[in-house]
Amino acid sequence: MRLNPRLAALPTYPTIAIDRIRDQLLAEGRTVYDFGTGDPMEPTPAFIREAMRANVPDNCRYPTVLGGRAVREGFARYAQRRLGVDLDPDTQILPTSGSKEAVFHLPLLCIDPDAPDRSVVFPDPGYSVYYRGTVLAGGLPCPQPLSGDYIQRIWELPRDILQQTRMVWINTPHNPSGAVMSRGDLLRTWETCREHDILLVSDECYMDVWFETPPASILQVATEGVLAMFSLSKRSGMTGYRSGIVAGDPKVVAAFRALRTNPGLAPQDFVNAAAAAAWTDESHAEDRRHVFAEKRAVLLEFFEEVGLEVTASEASFYVWVKAPNGDGDAFSRELLKAGVLTNPGSFFAVTPAGRDHVRFALVPALKDCHKAIAAMRALFARR
Ligand SMILES: Cc1ncc(COP(=O)(O)O)c(C=O)c1O
Repeated sequence: MRLNPRLAALPTYPTIAIDRIRDQLLAEGRTVYDFGTGDPMEPTPAFIREAMRANVPDNCRYPTVLGGRAVREGFARYAQRRLGVDLDPDTQILPTSGSKEAVFHLPLLCIDPDAPDRSVVFPDPGYSVYYRGTVLAGGLPCPQPLSGDYIQRIWELPRDILQQTRMVWINTPHNPSGAVMSRGDLLRTWETCREHDILLVSDECYMDVWFETPPASILQVATEGVLAMFSLSKRSGMTGYRSGIVAGDPKVVAAFRALRTNPGLAPQDFVNAAAAAAWTDESHAEDRRHVFAEKRAVLLEFFEEVGLEVTASEASFYVWVKAPNGDGDAFSRELLKAGVLTNPGSFFAVTPAGRDHVRFALVPALKDCHKAIAAMRALFARR
């Protein structure tokens, strides 16, 4: 059968690749400390699970793309409380089935595969769906290589690239590095997009996973020509529920809503009920931050002890570590000897950017982080 050649040309999805390695190690009877895929182990708070159970009806009918008002109101209250931003729940907020599908589908909103100006700019290394969604929508991927502080500065791109660009992705806090864009960076990014009539989409799914200062949101800068994406996956331990939010410019939200009626993309009403409960509560997000902060602290202490450099990791669920020999793939393989599973930087990049790093996701429980550290200490002692 002849398949879409663009699909065939995509590299294996990073989590599939990393899960294969894990499963092979487990089959060999090895202990694995899985810092690979960013899927938290901490349980979903009980009140969220209960909100979902209480909302499974006898007759579960089709959900709507807009979803009920409760989830949108819950998010509007969150935006007011956390960001000091007023959003209209009727026109500026849409629920999504996790942010991944929305990231994947968004290029369909602005890319005309027959037009010459169909570039999509995204951070590289970065979340691989920016690239995949662009390619499958018929857009031209335009990875912006990051290094040093891992801050994406789109205003430094050549003018002719910006003129060909229909859509810019930014990601703050950034996966894989954990870098956070300042409000000044966000303003400059927005001004550049407005100048060139580019849709600016800010992926903010780690907005509530921070350690010292709450990160700024693009919504605090502007909503015109802007969408921001939020997720309950890491904030509320809800990866399996698939629940996110898109918010911003009412005209763009309306267009995205219309687009989503085609495949019928709509979270189930009972998931939206759980999401409404999650967005309404701050204390569980705070508790989770403490758990991640504890794991992060023990890892940072160990990396300092053995002289490993941690780059840019200010917030998010990740610690971005420079490979001692400058080769992230080799370092990741070496760590496997201690049973420590990480993602090499090459998993996140289309260009060579970030290949000298590995990403640790703060997944294993604290006691397993200690065990993993002991195993790495022994490994480094044998070097
Ligand atoms: C940068 C980024 N965006 C979006 C997502 C998707 O999150 P979800 O679909 O769980 O909301 C992830 C998941 O790891 C991510 O790292």
